[in-house]
Amino acid sequence: MLPDIQKLREYYSEAPGDVSLDELDLERVPRHVSIIMDGNGRWATARGLDRSKGHVAGVDALREAVTTSVRLGLDVFSVYAFSTENWRRPQREVDLLMHLFATTLVNELPLFHQENVRLRFLGDLEALPERTRVVFQRGLDETADHTGMVFALAVNYGSRAEIARAARSIALDVLEGRLDASDVDEGVVSDRLYTAGLPDPDLLIRTSGELRLSNYLLWQLAYTEFYVTDTLWPDFDRWDYLRAVVAFQGRSRRFGGVVRS
Ligand code: IPE
Ligand code: IPE
Ligand code: MG
Repeated sequence: MLPDIQKLREYYSEAPGDVSLDELDLERVPRHVSIIMDGNGRWATARGLDRSKGHVAGVDALREAVTTSVRLGLDVFSVYAFSTENWRRPQREVDLLMHLFATTLVNELPLFHQENVRLRFLGDLEALPERTRVVFQRGLDETADHTGMVFALAVNYGSRAEIARAARSIALDVLEGRLDASDVDEGVVSDRLYTAGLPDPDLLIRTSGELRLSNYLLWQLAYTEFYVTDTLWPDFDRWDYLRAVVAFQGRSRRFGGVVRS
């Protein structure tokens, strides 16, 4: 999708000084940006607040990031919101997060309508509380015919579980004669991942300085460019996002080949 330049300029009108929209090559905007939204707890703790306040503040950062993604003209914007390992957190925090996912989704539906955003989920939703699942389904139904950017929310997502699930489905199809084992190639695997049909991320951003994937999109990130910032997720704004995309545009992506001169 090509960005609406007028809207993008308005959106980025108050430059903070160290980065400007002029540095962005509008013809080389990534198609798919993915973010590991990390650091909510530390953001709250540093302010003497309960961790839950960090998650609440993180919702505002997410709303801005969705808008920025639309303004930049992305095809796909995905975020890691809750991992298969995050169930290990105190029950109170898990409950708060599940509640926050449901209320946020309802609150943001007008934005998705206004910006023609289509919702998608990555992960096993079966294990989520009933109310969260109902609201997620409503979000899917209400945005199903939107033709703009896809916003993919990874909830109860774990890459190893995703790959095991794909392997299971392939094994069943082979066992029951619907698929020949010799036809199992990368495309067959990709089509059985939660991300089926989506392009792989061009750029992965992780906030809060952690240098790990935490079980996120192990298959899909094979040739993705990584960008890690120390900024904690609730502080991540449109300017941080722009810095990441400008840095991405300065990279030389070779995909195993050689640089063309
Ligand atoms: C990310 O922030 C949000 C979720 C994982 C749901 P954290 O809650 O991981 O924040 P830190 O890493 O403890 O600061
Ligand atoms: C990764 O963050 C998961 C999400 C952002 C949803 P974590 O905070 O759970 O990751 P670790 O535990 O630091 O690896
Ligand atoms: Mg964390």
